[in-house]
Amino acid sequence: MPNRLFYRQHSTHVMKTEGFTIWLTGLSGAGKSTIAEMLHREFLERQLPCETLDGDVVREHLSKGLSFSREDRDINVMRIGFVANLLARHGVVVIVSAISPYNDARNLVRQRIDNFIEVYVKCPIEECERRDVKGLYKKARTGVIKSFTGIDDPYEEPLQPEVICYTDHETVEHSVEKILHYLERAEYISAAIKISE
Ligand code: ADX
Repeated sequence: MPNRLFYRQHSTHVMKTEGFTIWLTGLSGAGKSTIAEMLHREFLERQLPCETLDGDVVREHLSKGLSFSREDRDINVMRIGFVANLLARHGVVVIVSAISPYNDARNLVRQRIDNFIEVYVKCPIEECERRDVKGLYKKARTGVIKSFTGIDDPYEEPLQPEVICYTDHETVEHSVEKILHYLERAEYISAAIKISE
């Protein structure tokens, strides 16, 4: 087992002090943010410090002004990875929710940061487009938005994600459970959960 688990005695609780990063990748509308929100709540219930870095929010602040060219998407992904690593190094459980469409960039982040868990939020483009929560697929189809992921811009499926969530036929609860089970099996959270229960 990698050297992941460090504990410190804190009053009557033993708390995990090393963080990790759950990286949710997938098409727009696949359900990344919904899974991220429920996971976030689960971690807080387990008294784990947690932070979510959401693509849309990051692009309002840290990555303001970046386009959706390959180069800018990669810069965005590397910035998110950098911040995730800083937080995780200080014991925070980090949830990233970003399309992050390119394998090379995701793999680079994986190499650069410790305790990286890639979760592929998988949903057929037809279903994402049917949902079209933000109305962006319609805009992409009519040419109002260019270079939209899955329409006229690529999405490279992860080759070896730690977890795959099939959001077209599993509930958000089921997806979150799968991620939590992986974290328990890999001993990222088991001790903390048992002790805080
Ligand atoms: S990434 O490719 O750089 O990882 P990120 O997750 O930060 O993307 O941002 C994606 C969000 O930006 C989408 O959920 C959508 O709301 C919005 N968006 C606007 N234009 C595009 C586009 N051309 N392609 C994909 N998403 C877009």
